[in-house]
Amino acid sequence: MGFALGMDGIHWHDTCHLEVNGTHFHVIEGLRDLIAVKGSAERLLLGKTRPMVERYLHATAGRTIRHVFELGIFKGGSAAFLHALFQPRKLVAIDFKPRRSPHLDAYIERQRCQGGLVPYYGVDQSDRPRLNEILQREFPADELDLVVDDASHWLEETKVSFDVLFPRLRAGGLYIIEDWSWAHAAQDVWQLPSGLWSDKSSLAHLVFEIVLACASTPGLVEQVVIDRDMAIVTRGERRVEAPGFAISASYATRGRAFHPTL
Ligand SMILES: C[S@@+](CC[C@H](N)C(=O)[O-])C[C@H]1O[C@@H](n2cnc3c(N)ncnc32)[C@H](O)[C@@H]1O
Repeated sequence: MGFALGMDGIHWHDTCHLEVNGTHFHVIEGLRDLIAVKGSAERLLLGKTRPMVERYLHATAGRTIRHVFELGIFKGGSAAFLHALFQPRKLVAIDFKPRRSPHLDAYIERQRCQGGLVPYYGVDQSDRPRLNEILQREFPADELDLVVDDASHWLEETKVSFDVLFPRLRAGGLYIIEDWSWAHAAQDVWQLPSGLWSDKSSLAHLVFEIVLACASTPGLVEQVVIDRDMAIVTRGERRVEAPGFAISASYATRGRAFHPTL
């Protein structure tokens, strides 16, 4: 189980219709489709655009991905996508909504992967004890190969998840933060003074802190690759104590506070 990815098994029927190893997905063209498109058990709604899917394929090509942790299940399309793509030993996904995703349940049933794809509902990504409990139960001795955070996109919540999960990645493992740039997307609703999340801090703060840690703490963060849709952070070889890890305490600022105003 777990395989090095080739492009075999990936077929685009059209820009919105992706097939991965026999599982069909409706790929969104923009945020609006997250609400407008319902998806179905036969064609799961995947909350990523085609360029984002291509980025996933590119970033993970040739890697063996056995243990995956995903934040943000929504209608289950991304958990099924990551599972169909990598065929990992285990993929655990969490979401704070309490209701199970019937489309994801149907996928799990169809693939008979009850122990291999485990969704947890009613779990907030900022609930550190709960995340640790899930890690302890599902990955007691395993390092993670991939973490994907597509949940709240809020700064403090995302940072708690990062502090808990990043130390659990193996050296060379990937931590992907989607939509890190929402607060800076010109012409989007986020720019309106009365717009959605106008009181929320930019997620770019966390990305900057990760970049600073890359400079300050050798071996912690090997690389940060950015595009508009996602930040892909590669874990370095430095061992860190998982409990108590804080990205905010992992860089030096010559005594000056690092407080960009975003
Ligand atoms: C953009 S959707 C995820 C889309 C999905 N990953 C995909 O690509 O198909 C975001 C999800 O994150 C969940 N979410 C939002 N805030 C959260 C939080 N604080 N903790 C856990 N999940 C959260 C929402 O309930 C929603 O289902």
